[in-house]
Amino acid sequence: MAILYDASQRIFTLQTMHTTYQMQADGFGHLLHLYYGPRIEGSSSYMLQMRDRGFHGNPSEAGGPDGRGRDRTCSLDTLPQEYPCAGSGDQRQTALAVRDEDGVSGCRLRYRGHEVLPGKYGLPGLPAVHAAPEDAETLRIDLADEEAGVEVSLWYGVLAGADVITRAAEIRASKDRRGNLYVNRAASACVDWMYDRLDTVTFAGRYGRERIPQRQTLGQGRYVIESRRGHSGHALNPFMILCDRDAGETHGRTWGFLLLYSGSFSAGAEVDPLLQTRFVMGIGDEQLDYPLAPGESFFTPECAMCCSEQGFGILTHRLHRLVRTHIVRGEWAGRPRPILFNSWEAAYFRFTGETIVRMGMEAAELGAEMLVMDDGWFGKRDDDTSGLGDWYPNEEKLGMSLAKLSEKIHGTGLQFGLWIEPEMVSEDSDLYRAHPDWAMKVPGRAFTRSRSQLVLDFTRREVRDEIFARISAVLDSAKIEYVKIDCNRSLSDVYSAGSTWQNRGTLEYRYMLGVYDFLEKLTARYPQILFEGCCGGGGRFDAGMLYYTPQIWCSDNTDAVERLQIQYGSSFAYPAVVTGAHVSACPNAMTGRTVPLRTRAAVAMSATFGYELNPSGLTIGEKEEIRRQIQDVKRFRTLAAECVLYRLVPPVKDAPFTAWAYVSEDRRQCLMTAVLLDPQANAPAYRVRLCGLDPDRSYLEEENGEIYTGRMLMECGVPLTDLQGEYGCIQIYLQATYAQVD
Ligand code: DGJ
Repeated sequence: MAILYDASQRIFTLQTMHTTYQMQADGFGHLLHLYYGPRIEGSSSYMLQMRDRGFHGNPSEAGGPDGRGRDRTCSLDTLPQEYPCAGSGDQRQTALAVRDEDGVSGCRLRYRGHEVLPGKYGLPGLPAVHAAPEDAETLRIDLADEEAGVEVSLWYGVLAGADVITRAAEIRASKDRRGNLYVNRAASACVDWMYDRLDTVTFAGRYGRERIPQRQTLGQGRYVIESRRGHSGHALNPFMILCDRDAGETHGRTWGFLLLYSGSFSAGAEVDPLLQTRFVMGIGDEQLDYPLAPGESFFTPECAMCCSEQGFGILTHRLHRLVRTHIVRGEWAGRPRPILFNSWEAAYFRFTGETIVRMGMEAAELGAEMLVMDDGWFGKRDDDTSGLGDWYPNEEKLGMSLAKLSEKIHGTGLQFGLWIEPEMVSEDSDLYRAHPDWAMKVPGRAFTRSRSQLVLDFTRREVRDEIFARISAVLDSAKIEYVKIDCNRSLSDVYSAGSTWQNRGTLEYRYMLGVYDFLEKLTARYPQILFEGCCGGGGRFDAGMLYYTPQIWCSDNTDAVERLQIQYGSSFAYPAVVTGAHVSACPNAMTGRTVPLRTRAAVAMSATFGYELNPSGLTIGEKEEIRRQIQDVKRFRTLAAECVLYRLVPPVKDAPFTAWAYVSEDRRQCLMTAVLLDPQANAPAYRVRLCGLDPDRSYLEEENGEIYTGRMLMECGVPLTDLQGEYGCIQIYLQATYAQVD
């Protein structure tokens, strides 16, 4: 049993293998948060402090024995809360804010009951962690404010073996209330610590430089990350870590919070005046004003939570297993990916069918497995100013039908993939000319173009259905094994001509539900296709998208040295097998930097692997090298798809080199990669200590034929003697020999 209820004290204890989450409904029915951390047995309610504090109000029912408010020790402003509400007397950041039709706001939720259910709950229209029935249990706690006509069900999923707890909330307007209830904030999760001295680690950047870790020491006040763009964004990822101030890769308490949502979001950590810490995460609520008629519900997205008492490394291992096993779905979950050549950086919009076939022939000759035709194959699309929405192959440009092109690619021995951008429309397109009101913009007002395109109103079923019909006609017309789903702008003029609700907050949420509905249908209809998410690189790189697309293009920045940092940051939550990376030509199109081909491949090998260059431009030597790389990837990709990652030396400022290793779950294989960042004259003798090996097993280093024990490799390390030259790299592959050390 992972979910325990102590009826005498009304304490809920959620136990996973290594962690405990605990709550208590107090005598008044306030649902208090007691604890989330390394596993404990017994009740931690003795840590609650009931003290009279000036300027921290007391709920009226806690008026004390004389009924005149003399017991001032109970305050929702000081006690740790499970789902705090605005207007309840808790003056900190709250999880829920509601109002009536006449503008009266606030509510006071009290415990009303609970139910423990087998298996893992799902969420209507939203991505959610999934698990086999025997691997999860669900707890639903029901809260209500009868006077305000508000009901809330808090949903908890406990995946004990995976050390994961999930949370979501369902907000309901009571059936018997008069008029609509409006939801103005509804967080997915709120966690309170009765102490401070915590740091946050967030993953920040911009287009072309996504998910670079940044660490922030929390002081009194609030630190918030958010997106107001309608997609999770390049700037801040919907993933946040809180940790002990001295936590590192292998030590200290760390908590990871991963939001399964791809739209605007907000996550904040606040230290209150009594030096307690609160974390709140959920959908962006800047303009949320969601009406609920009596009896209707609003579901928040899900937040998945992990905790590790041994630093970021173990937290990452738990998150990687969560993403691979319980978020990604379908035939491609956990499967090694095909090695592909993508036409984008090779040809941009300048290609014909013959160009693509020639690329295919050369790629096949190098040992690749798939050719992907990126943007530019449909409608009138020779640059990014036209054609979006016209999902008809441009046979004139291609010089052949899509079916013929696919046939020719398959004739080379490769599989065939295609790029689409379903949510967008160009003003210069037949679709827009026929349905100008399908684009999101306010009639009669100036609007914002981005990449010369507009966003389609995916809140409307007829819009989604038409795009679905057009795209599925294309996918049915030819043999296609891979689809890259792009999205190249943010929402700005949020308006729906097909809705009576013109409110931006309502529409943004419904837009995201529309996108998910579209993706659900597409992936269900084509279960064998490998879908890759994309959003101008990694602008929608989140756990919500991974529920539909088993991998996401990590960044448009393919400079291997920049990628070291981007992939390092991404690796804290997202495993290699979901992270798209390709080898591109040098000098790099974005940075102008030249990096050795070997290093470019070693970096891309630490994610899904492919090439983003024109094979015709390669020298004979480069072709030989690429042939060898592809052979290596074929050997190592199963390891990369299922491995345990060890970040050995991070690519931080001033680090002379960086190193990481993939170790198989059974600890029999290890691939260590190191890249030299700063070549120095008379350099020190660099070495790196490996992690995660079996100390009592012998390992054969393939290259030099030497045998070492796991203990030696982890205690003495391996010398990086050959790590030389600007951005030089080495890879060491170790395989357990069958002999066990005595
Ligand atoms: C942005 C993507 O990130 C690129 O890889 C490429 O597909 C372009 N869009 C195509 O327009």
